[in-house]
Amino acid sequence: MKISSAEFVMSNSDVAKCPKDKLPEYAFIGRSNVGKSSLINMLTSRKSLAKTSGRPGKTQLINHFIINKNWFLVDLPGYGYARVSKSAKKVFQKFITAYFAKRTQLVAAFVLVDCRHEPQKIDLEFMQWLGENQIPFSIVFTKADKLSKNKLPAHIEAYTNTMLEYWEEMPNYFITSSSSGLGKEEVLNYINDINNQLKTS
Ligand code: GTP
Ligand code: MG
Repeated sequence: MKISSAEFVMSNSDVAKCPKDKLPEYAFIGRSNVGKSSLINMLTSRKSLAKTSGRPGKTQLINHFIINKNWFLVDLPGYGYARVSKSAKKVFQKFITAYFAKRTQLVAAFVLVDCRHEPQKIDLEFMQWLGENQIPFSIVFTKADKLSKNKLPAHIEAYTNTMLEYWEEMPNYFITSSSSGLGKEEVLNYINDINNQLKTS
């Protein structure tokens, strides 16, 4: 899919104030610093559409970006960032869960996990919660450039084995690198296929 336009629309912490348009949207969620904002820039080939930082806790609001004037990408704050004060964290968690529970335009979520790390409780719990709430999601392994080509398959296999302790099947997944562009076409094709299905249904 060709991205001919990608524009920032709005940021807010209240799901009721998100864009009213009935366009399909796709949200990126995961721990702070996993690479959500970087992935949005990589997918759209825009260097700084979404703000990124080496320090966790950069994205603090629900950010809508409109793509090709007919669908949204949504950048969310990370969960599980310990250095945000406890009260701030509670507010994040509240509006993140409110976003997922109430946003009817949400078509699918992408749960980002760092491909170098072992499965983290908070990610597994979040995926469980998405499942219970019947919110379709894919896993996106990020930062694939940081693992050698030999090590990557073993990490994915180990992750899959853990997932199979909780799920009947491994959810759909993508392996990506925002530095090299790995996985870009796969993610965009996946979104494009869903957008086309929605148009014809
Ligand atoms: P929060 O907004 O704080 O929740 O973080 P985030 O998930 O949006 O992460 P962000 O995109 O800001 O990236 C965090 C750091 O990881 C930055 O220093 C990025 O440059 C780096 N990073 C993100 N993706 C990749 C990747 O694929 N490869 C490498 N090597 N670094 C990456
Ligand atoms: Mg971010």
